[in-house]
Amino acid sequence: MRMYDIIHRKREGLPLTDEEIRFFVGGCVDGSIPDYQISALLMAIYFQGLNDRETAVLTDCMAHSGDVMDLSAIQGFKVDKHSTGGVGDKTTMIVGPMVAACGVPVAKMSGRGLGHTGGTVDKLESIPGFNIALEPDEFIQTVNCMGLCVVGQTGDLAPADKKLYALRDVTATVDSIPLIAASIMSKKIAAGADGIVLDVKVGSGAFMKTVEDAVRLAETMVRIGESAGKKTVALITNMDAPLGNAIGNTIEVVEAVETLRGNGPAALTTICRELAANMLFLAGKGDIVACNRMVRDAILNGTALDKFREMVAAQGGDATVVDDTSKLPSAPDFHRVRAPKSGYITHIDAEKCGIAAALLGAGRQKKEDSIDYTAGILFRENLGDQVDEGVEFARLYSSKSELFTEAERLFLEAVTISEQPLPELPKLLIGRVTAQGAELY
Ligand code: URA
Repeated sequence: MRMYDIIHRKREGLPLTDEEIRFFVGGCVDGSIPDYQISALLMAIYFQGLNDRETAVLTDCMAHSGDVMDLSAIQGFKVDKHSTGGVGDKTTMIVGPMVAACGVPVAKMSGRGLGHTGGTVDKLESIPGFNIALEPDEFIQTVNCMGLCVVGQTGDLAPADKKLYALRDVTATVDSIPLIAASIMSKKIAAGADGIVLDVKVGSGAFMKTVEDAVRLAETMVRIGESAGKKTVALITNMDAPLGNAIGNTIEVVEAVETLRGNGPAALTTICRELAANMLFLAGKGDIVACNRMVRDAILNGTALDKFREMVAAQGGDATVVDDTSKLPSAPDFHRVRAPKSGYITHIDAEKCGIAAALLGAGRQKKEDSIDYTAGILFRENLGDQVDEGVEFARLYSSKSELFTEAERLFLEAVTISEQPLPELPKLLIGRVTAQGAELY
């Protein structure tokens, strides 16, 4: 088999055979196919697409290109969740405890932040002592003991995705629906859960800019998950603005704790409750209305917060910070951002906010960069709110006060203040896709 012929077939819009896809993925991992030929095929796929069979075979080959987690030693139906990426997305820290408090085990592998997006692992590591590097048997034992554990990625999961993603990133081929679907679902399948809830973001801060594309991506991923024997549901949610008021690491932990206490921002609370309810639904805990009620009760009766505290303690962290978040490390300095004019906040560009937060030290440009856990941005007024000229509406935090000027400039570019208020806040929950079809709200 020749890579040249595979590229040529796809360039001409012909479907690839299962063997050709297997040959391609194998060659990506063992290094026998040079980067220029891999990139050429990625570009051909970008323009010509992949049919359902090709996408499913590509996903399966990528999922089995490295280690596949065996979670069978964990009792019960294990549900995973995945977000297609966002700014201020601290949902795992909230949804995991909510679901575990309702009796469904959550064994979650999370990633670190890169570029303008944050990562759950960094956020959890900002809690003093928190250990995200448990051995596989400790990971399983912790889930069996208390129903919840969040660790960094261990082993060599989906190495084909690492190779392909790195090349897509530099060849302008990231935003292809079959390639995104195969990338995400290969990692989810390799991570070993029985059910998967996907949060497909749509909007200015997301890969998918239109609802139509988000539905197509969600449908593709649900089909792949179901054909791999995983119960799969996708929610389509708005990512036109950052999620919640905090963007950073320790400040996002504080916001997660407040949300588990029932005092979180409305948008964040709604999305977390809906994700958690869908995870319970997949685990057979009842219909979606009953599952939503269980999640609400877990917040009201404090069991969701208890689970978070237990998880922090079980993973070596200082659990007293959960009851007194002022014990978390805080930035030595902050800067008040004042409204340049009076009006209403009508748009917040999530990506630009993420870049400003990363500049303050909350994120990293390269994998090796270290981060300042205490850095970030905290909105005091958010989308739709009224602001008065000269009055503080956000705060920047950093250990390096010399970064405030540039970060403030970038941040102010992200925020639109208009004379007229928004007629209504953008819809947060846009739709839901299951094996039975798509429903738009
Ligand atoms: N997230 C992924 O893991 N892969 C993609 O291709 C896009 C978002």
